[in-house]
Amino acid sequence: ANVSSASIIIVGASGDLAKKKIFPALFALYYENCLPKQFTVYGYARSKMTDSELRDMVSRTLSCRIDKREDCSEKMNEFLGRCFYHSGQYDSEEDFSNLDRKLKLQEGGEACNRLFYLSIPPNIFIDAVRCATLSASSSRGWTRVIVEKPFGRDTESSAALTDALKQYLEENQIFRIDHYLGKELVENLSVLRFSNLIFEPLWSRQHISNVQLIFSENFGTEGRGGYFDSYGIIRDIMQNHLLQILAIFAMETPVSLNAEDIRNEKVKVLRSIKPIHLDNVVTGQYNSQTKGDITFPGYTDDKTVAEGSLTPTFAATVLFIDNARWDGVPFLMKAGKALDNRRTEIRVQFRNVPGNLYKGNFTSDAEESNNELVIRVQPDESIYLKINNKVPGLGMDLDQSNLNLRYASRYSNEVPDAYERLLLDAMEGERRLFIRSDELDAAWAIFTPLLRELEEKNITPEGYPFGSQGPISAQHLASRYNVRWGDLNLNQ
Ligand code: BG6
Repeated sequence: ANVSSASIIIVGASGDLAKKKIFPALFALYYENCLPKQFTVYGYARSKMTDSELRDMVSRTLSCRIDKREDCSEKMNEFLGRCFYHSGQYDSEEDFSNLDRKLKLQEGGEACNRLFYLSIPPNIFIDAVRCATLSASSSRGWTRVIVEKPFGRDTESSAALTDALKQYLEENQIFRIDHYLGKELVENLSVLRFSNLIFEPLWSRQHISNVQLIFSENFGTEGRGGYFDSYGIIRDIMQNHLLQILAIFAMETPVSLNAEDIRNEKVKVLRSIKPIHLDNVVTGQYNSQTKGDITFPGYTDDKTVAEGSLTPTFAATVLFIDNARWDGVPFLMKAGKALDNRRTEIRVQFRNVPGNLYKGNFTSDAEESNNELVIRVQPDESIYLKINNKVPGLGMDLDQSNLNLRYASRYSNEVPDAYERLLLDAMEGERRLFIRSDELDAAWAIFTPLLRELEEKNITPEGYPFGSQGPISAQHLASRYNVRWGDLNLNQ
């Protein structure tokens, strides 16, 4: 069925994600004329709320595109007029039947597709899928369900969740979101690799000495401690966001841009990654820190976090891909909350120039400087390549300069939010950026042994002060592989 008409049901409409991301993304799509002509948005949650109260709540979350300065309030009102609310329990087929009745009225008896967005905690996930699909599936169009992580907490629980989902849904109805795949620079990674001649020949153990995938946030788990404490940073960021970036970075060229072809390659490379063990991992947890008059709370100061919790808020690890392209190349991953900056980037560090003629000509203390390609996913999206260059003048001094593609300088259009791309794709049935179940299994297989070891051995994470660079042991881990985190040519 095409998408000429669709109902979008946000289950968990009063939650944080709905307010921060889903409603604003839907409005942005409406604004860009990307939603079907006939559409209805239904908020579903337990609390009692009228349509107009929902509209008030949603309206506070909407904003106009920065690059389109014109006032968009008319569009906002049109959009809000299509938003409705239905209060119900997540495990009540009857409540979903009532929703179905309301949807039918809105849909005016026409064939209409239905997209459910499940933005609810994992313990009520399956109940909601059961009730939504049994009582409120579209009768003459498609029914799709977008689900957000956590997709279980290890191999077994994830497989159980997939089995449970498949009692009610076909694989092609399930859209598992990893919102990092919707980020502009992550999407661009394949474009960079496969539409330029100059990178792909270098993309292997022959030329690359190591790759770093770095995620840092300069704030703690504020308000989300309850969820976070039972998952931790490895499940929250590494097993999904960073591993997905790694898969796209390292996969072989897909047969085509078709979703199955791409995901086949991702599964292959994920299956070539060796499971991680404790000896290649550093975990940390942030402590409170006072700067001037301000005291930043430690992780366990959060009331929703269990006292004495051993949940890591920081982790660093080294992965290896056991295939012909990447054998022996360390992929370093680091993710942490409450660090000194907010940044996600990929750093590709190249080997030395063999027989370098210019050793000793560098203005820096280093004997030579290696090339480095940096893909900054956020903030200030950019791609830059560090090259060696002669400092203009009569001497022969070399320094390192950046060939710099900074999005804000190059493009005037605003980079869309990841959720816009993903919601649009889900509506169009484009599955390229969603996680297939075999991909998910392969991702868990890499991290499950480690997660088990951490829990069984009650490993205490190393403390680090809020706003710092994280545990000192992370530096030691990198040095074991002759690598320094961050800029290849800076002493930091
Ligand atoms: C989420 C994690 O998936 O990603 C959060 O659960 C994290 O802990 C967030 O803060 C980061 O996303 P973004 O898009 O703000 O970088």
